[in-house]
Amino acid sequence: MYKTIEIFKSEREKLFDRFTDRLETAYNLNRKVVSFQANKEEPIYRWFKYKEGFSSALVKYFLSEYASEVGTVLDPFAGVGTTLFAGQELGWESYGIELLPVGAFVMQTRQALTEIDVDQLRENVKKMWSEIPKMEDCNNYLNHISITKDAFPDETEEYLNKYLSYCSKLQHKHIQTIFRFAAFTVLEEISYTRKDGQYLRWDYRSKRDLSGKPFNKGKILTFKDAVKAKLNQIIQDLTSNQSASLFEQFEKPITTKKSVNIIEGSCLEHLPKLENNFFDFIITSPPYCNRYDYTRTYALELIYLGYDSDQVRNLRQSMLSCTVENKEKIEYLEQFYGSINQIPIFENVIKTYNNSNAMMEVNSILDGLNRLGKLNNNNIARMVKNYFLELCFVIYEMARVTKSSGYCVMVNDNVRYGGEEIPVDLILSEFAENFGFNINKIFVLPKGKGNSSQQMGNYGRTEVRKCVYLWQKR
Ligand SMILES: C[S@@+](CC[C@H](N)C(=O)[O-])C[C@H]1O[C@@H](n2cnc3c(N)ncnc32)[C@H](O)[C@@H]1O
Repeated sequence: MYKTIEIFKSEREKLFDRFTDRLETAYNLNRKVVSFQANKEEPIYRWFKYKEGFSSALVKYFLSEYASEVGTVLDPFAGVGTTLFAGQELGWESYGIELLPVGAFVMQTRQALTEIDVDQLRENVKKMWSEIPKMEDCNNYLNHISITKDAFPDETEEYLNKYLSYCSKLQHKHIQTIFRFAAFTVLEEISYTRKDGQYLRWDYRSKRDLSGKPFNKGKILTFKDAVKAKLNQIIQDLTSNQSASLFEQFEKPITTKKSVNIIEGSCLEHLPKLENNFFDFIITSPPYCNRYDYTRTYALELIYLGYDSDQVRNLRQSMLSCTVENKEKIEYLEQFYGSINQIPIFENVIKTYNNSNAMMEVNSILDGLNRLGKLNNNNIARMVKNYFLELCFVIYEMARVTKSSGYCVMVNDNVRYGGEEIPVDLILSEFAENFGFNINKIFVLPKGKGNSSQQMGNYGRTEVRKCVYLWQKR
């Protein structure tokens, strides 16, 4: 009788049954705590909202709740460094890998801020506004790519170029970084664009030929007003926090601060170079498997940081596959593991991936739906396949670098395509189990994410799980 029922269960249902005792609704981890929104009282997060980030409170909660003493913590998808800096505040030595220069720049600014003299910054700001208008021949600081062309009103573009030229001449490196950061944080506000998930939305006032319903983003600030307000905010926050360290207002200051180590590049290449059994804790959140394109969302910030179209395209392809544009990286990964004499690891990861029945089921269902034209885009099946394959490598490496009894916490959302739920939490946990983690808990946030309106129309309103996984190395 039991066997008959099992036969009719899908592989995803069987995997659900296997992990069902680990799934637990976590009422203390609501969406606000998990998302960047809980950071808004903290200075740096207030200055630049990285909406893809999680909260410092989440990091501090797991480090305090599960670690018996401070040690080393890693985030291979570091973003703006929430894990790294929250860990540092609690006395941890932290390491982060981040591919996108946007996150790396915010982390560098954060480090510069700890060494800044506020009075000197204030003086420099005063001087700057009278000196910028005198700058001449500054037209080539901002080089647009096709997706950013005409993003700024002409006078803003001109001021931006002068500002960047002025910054480049500043002797004091930290002040230069903070000035560059101030303008970096207002690029959206002073442009005709609005960040909107997969693409930038364009205001009707831009010079672009736009189709569809005109979009009005509201007031567009002048460059000077926006940067002035931002620098004032930064100086005010720095001044009011001068007695305590800027970022430690909610914590007892610790006596010995350990370093924050930032590695720029892809974790697919950098994780394999880290030592075995080195980390006590990993707290991370990879991009979700939801087609969100960071390189388009942050296109203005990327060109501002000096990236040209080839470099932006390369970044897009190096990201963990989560957009329909990502090509597969399997050959590259094979070559890479070959170059570090680790082909057996490459083969082991591929075997683990292929041995996952739930993964194979998802791939075959999506291929089938694709053939029937039932997916919104015919690269979705490829994206999902590669998303999991690449994360399989990441999870192997995370298990390898974690000490015995150490933890890995991962925040991620499940997704749905063509009406089929893809249990990201279960499939990744199955990989993790194969690589030496115990699956202690899969914390499910009380309210999952709604579906896109398009999918709701087709399949009714159901929610996919949004989870925080807690894995412990055996
Ligand atoms: C969900 S966000 C993490 C945000 C982070 N928890 C924070 O609070 O700022 C995922 C990050 O992974 C980065 N990323 C994507 N592919 C990567 C790769 N191959 N290597 C390293 N980082 C990558 C993205 O640029 C993004 O910043």
